[in-house]
Amino acid sequence: MAGNNSNSGQWLLLYLCISCISLLFHSSQAQQSYVNNKQLQCEQNYTTTLGYNCSTTSTTPSCLSYVTFRSTTDYNTPVSIANLLNTNSSEVARLNNFSEDSTISPDTLIIAPISCSCSGARAPGGPFYQHQTNYSLNFTGETYFSVANNTYQGLTTCQSLISQNTYDYQNLVAGMEVNVPVRCACPSKKQVDDGYKYLLAYLITWGNNVNQIARSFRDSGANYMSILEANELEAKNIIFPFTPLLVPLKKEPNRKKS
Ligand SMILES: *[C@@H]1O[C@H](CO)[C@@H](O)[C@H](O)[C@H]1NC(C)=O
Ligand SMILES: *[C@@H]1O[C@H](CO)[C@@H](O)[C@H](O)[C@H]1NC(C)=O
Ligand SMILES: *[C@@H]1O[C@H](CO)[C@@H](O)[C@H](O)[C@H]1NC(C)=O
Ligand SMILES: *[C@@H]1O[C@H](CO)[C@@H](O)[C@H](O)[C@H]1NC(C)=O
Ligand SMILES: *[C@@H]1O[C@H](CO)[C@@H](O)[C@H](O)[C@H]1NC(C)=O
Ligand SMILES: *[C@@H]1O[C@H](CO)[C@@H](O)[C@H](O)[C@H]1NC(C)=O
Ligand SMILES: *[C@@H]1O[C@H](CO)[C@@H](O)[C@H](O)[C@H]1NC(C)=O
Repeated sequence: MAGNNSNSGQWLLLYLCISCISLLFHSSQAQQSYVNNKQLQCEQNYTTTLGYNCSTTSTTPSCLSYVTFRSTTDYNTPVSIANLLNTNSSEVARLNNFSEDSTISPDTLIIAPISCSCSGARAPGGPFYQHQTNYSLNFTGETYFSVANNTYQGLTTCQSLISQNTYDYQNLVAGMEVNVPVRCACPSKKQVDDGYKYLLAYLITWGNNVNQIARSFRDSGANYMSILEANELEAKNIIFPFTPLLVPLKKEPNRKKS
């Protein structure tokens, strides 16, 4: 019996060692951790909410990247969406198969290209991958949370707005020009080796799951396991609406249904 016990003790030790080795391995391969709904707690400093880390020397300094956005009554043309995101409206129109002057029906999933770079160096905890845009507060009552969650739909976070703007977050008034860092990331060496060219920041909505998101971008090379890996997620983890999920792609994404 004693022999058995010490045997199982050894097995346990071995198991723990394997786990911690794989944990180490995992974190060195690790890419960008998912915000995990921490963007809701504006007054907490979570590094994952401040941006995607680009501090390792092996990271690509800049790249073309993509984000998704859902049209609203205020942002329902390629031009207004491109202005909000500081990107090219002809490219927004082309990627989504719209004409540049079309009005887009509400809640349509739009793909927009952005230039992503390892900037955000001055931000506490940085450098972060981000795409810079500006937003003029439009009415009194807007907060960093409403700008991040409602206007930008989760493409940025209140924590990164607080950390990268000098305005006191309790005294925001209409007319202030807020600096908005849009979360984005460039492919890691491993992703490049695996044939991935872009990371799309997909905005999760109600009812989404990783499998379904992988399927909807399958034509551009999306794959379930590579999405989990890119976001440091495991199959059992829950994903939340109004948070971005990085989707590694091999080809330019488009809105065509697969
Ligand atoms: C968050 O970080 C900033 C800058 O590093 C600091 O000024 C602030 O007090 C921190 N807030 C909390 C809640 O820890
Ligand atoms: C926007 O993209 C189009 C191609 O879709 C290109 O011809 C044009 O030069 C770009 N405009 C700017 C300002 O970069
Ligand atoms: C783009 O839109 C046009 C007209 O709205 C349509 O005929 C065409 O099939 C669409 N193309 C794709 C690739 O969805
Ligand atoms: C960013 O990643 C590097 C390398 O993995 C790590 O040393 C550093 O602590 C990370 N920074 C943050 C803010 O998580
Ligand atoms: C944002 O505003 C700042 C100053 O308020 C300006 O220096 C910067 O060029 C603007 N950036 C963009 C992308 O418009
Ligand atoms: C700005 O505020 C006005 C008045 O509240 C509103 O009608 C308009 O839709 C807002 N525009 C944007 C872009 O949010
Ligand atoms: C975030 O924005 C969405 C869309 O406007 C809204 O439905 C949701 O309630 C907001 N979340 C919070 C926590 O306010």
